[in-house]
Amino acid sequence: MSVAMLSEFIAGKLNLDSSEECYSAGLFHDIGKLVMIAYLPHTYQPLVESSTKEKTPMFGVETSTYETNHAEIGGWLLNEWKFPESLVNSVAEHHGGEDGENIPAEVVLLADYVSHQAGFGIGSGPNHLSTSLLGITKHIDGSELIKSCLDKVERERDKILCVRDILG
Ligand SMILES: [Fe+2]
Repeated sequence: MSVAMLSEFIAGKLNLDSSEECYSAGLFHDIGKLVMIAYLPHTYQPLVESSTKEKTPMFGVETSTYETNHAEIGGWLLNEWKFPESLVNSVAEHHGGEDGENIPAEVVLLADYVSHQAGFGIGSGPNHLSTSLLGITKHIDGSELIKSCLDKVERERDKILCVRDILG
């Protein structure tokens, strides 16, 4: 929920036409984790726990363990469900695609990074951004944007927690 909200916020800061798509991409970005939890419960849950404990991003842990990851699986699932190709690509590339080529995917990555910094998310999130926001940082100062995102998530923390409690 925080990633969706922040994705829309960042899209607004960047004056993107695709703020609704960014919101949707933020909402669905980690749907692949739900698939992995559902289909690999005995091996995936321990990975979540070790990722959290060792602060190792889930994306890398998944890739080294399964030779795939939640971004690829999420993109595959949304494609199967006939979601628009741009949304599929934003979800599939939210941990890195062609640098600077997919701005909505970078928006989601930044929103995900900030959300994890604020204490939200499953397992450990992205731990660096320096080479992953080339498209965004052509348009705006990255550190100022991160600061405004952290301020935004703190202002909205109670709403985010409320929605998270409702969804379980
Ligand atoms: Fe992710």
